Amino acid sequence: MTKGYGSPASAPLLPLEESLRVLVVDDDPLVLRVLQDVLRVQGCETSTAGNADRALALLDNNSYDLIVSDIRMPGPSGLDLLRAVRSRQPETPVVLITGYASVETAVEALRSGAVDYLTKPFRLQDIEKVLARVREARGQTIAIHGDGGRHHTGVLGLIQIAEATISSRDVPPVLELVLECCLNALGADGGRIQLRESEGRPPLSVHGGDPSLVERLREWGATRDGGRKTRATDEWYGLELPIEGKRGLLGQLAVARWVERGVFLPDEQELAQGFARHAALVIENLALHASLQSNLLNTIRSFVYALEAKDKYTQGHSTRVSLYASELAKVLGVPANVAAVIRYAALLHDLGKLVIYESILKKPARLVRDEYTIMMQHPLIGEGILQPLGFLAEEARVVRHHHERYDGKGFPDGLAGEAISLPTRIVTVADAFDAMTSDRPYRSAMPFETALREIRKGAGSQFDPQIAEAFANLELHRLIEISRITPGSLDFLE
Ligand SMILES: [Fe+2]
Repeated sequence: MTKGYGSPASAPLLPLEESLRVLVVDDDPLVLRVLQDVLRVQGCETSTAGNADRALALLDNNSYDLIVSDIRMPGPSGLDLLRAVRSRQPETPVVLITGYASVETAVEALRSGAVDYLTKPFRLQDIEKVLARVREARGQTIAIHGDGGRHHTGVLGLIQIAEATISSRDVPPVLELVLECCLNALGADGGRIQLRESEGRPPLSVHGGDPSLVERLREWGATRDGGRKTRATDEWYGLELPIEGKRGLLGQLAVARWVERGVFLPDEQELAQGFARHAALVIENLALHASLQSNLLNTIRSFVYALEAKDKYTQGHSTRVSLYASELAKVLGVPANVAAVIRYAALLHDLGKLVIYESILKKPARLVRDEYTIMMQHPLIGEGILQPLGFLAEEARVVRHHHERYDGKGFPDGLAGEAISLPTRIVTVADAFDAMTSDRPYRSAMPFETALREIRKGAGSQFDPQIAEAFANLELHRLIEISRITPGSLDFLE
């Protein structure tokens, strides 16, 4: 017990205007009656509940200064109630009632956050001491231990999951994080998420926590009908929840605790169900993204095939420009999302040539002025093809500007310096290099060394000087490797 406060039994400890609101929980009506009477005499307003579930229902709509609860009750125990209170109202002190034989349990309860315990039969002085202690603690912050911040942990977990979903497009690591956050929020010792095979995705299972509990969950076996299931054994408690997608059951989330940590209370089951719903959302969002990505890649592939089929001199050009530009993006340390724009935009840069007369495209001589005027339209035409697609907006801007020059003397808009986007400045250098080192209808390919000299010469006029320098310093063997790429090979897009 706590240190005594020595108040005379007859004198109320609290003036009535400072009465404590006390919730008393016990399955024995006689105990409830006795405690209620004693507490009233001590200036408390009391409410009573015959079991932990009733107490939790009262806690939904009321707050109390103190909860006094028996440990042993049918259904959820006083320790379960203690954990639930610490989750919902961590500032509310809980005092547990125990018989002499279970003092050890009461000590354990103190360790897990009860502020005190009372032994049966009650002594008036003990109750007075408890009330004095609670009164003393009012106005002070009662430390939140263990699982006290459960819902807070849950919210933080959901934020973490959202961030991971944005940065990682892979289902397994995101599900591992969902499981980890769920285990933390519930104070569970182990768990697993199992997904069924669905729409081309193979079955998938992730697990976390104590391996022997995970094994028990595996043996318990996921139910297949999608309902919520609980399991109580002498050693562990289990909870299994369906992961329901918009078009049916996606799988199950199962968590478990060793028996000393208690059953999964109704509010904990709801919290776990929240994680299961979140898992469903994450899985469906990632699937949607994967399908958009695959549409995007197929669109680009179709465009590139159509373009290269038209003109043998441009065969492989888009692919090589994309690979040269990607090498540049790598050495320049461009972020992954910008590097992707560069990769796709480089493939699409000459898309507008799809609608240029073949007689102009394949003319084995320099173009005359009118022909050149038509040819100069291809950046605008390319942009016009991509614009309605919306999701390639960044790439469309690069396509429009890939003939701009750093000194502002390019076309169609005469942009200069950094008014030309970084992806465009990168693609421009790669495009020029591949044009110089490929055969054209009106001239033969230039040797690499000569072309690299030309790139350096164009620094500050045609090209961004830093990017031109970075290109000239790329490893020659890699440039040679790229120059030998088979026309139409788009496997690197994946
Ligand atoms: Fe072009």
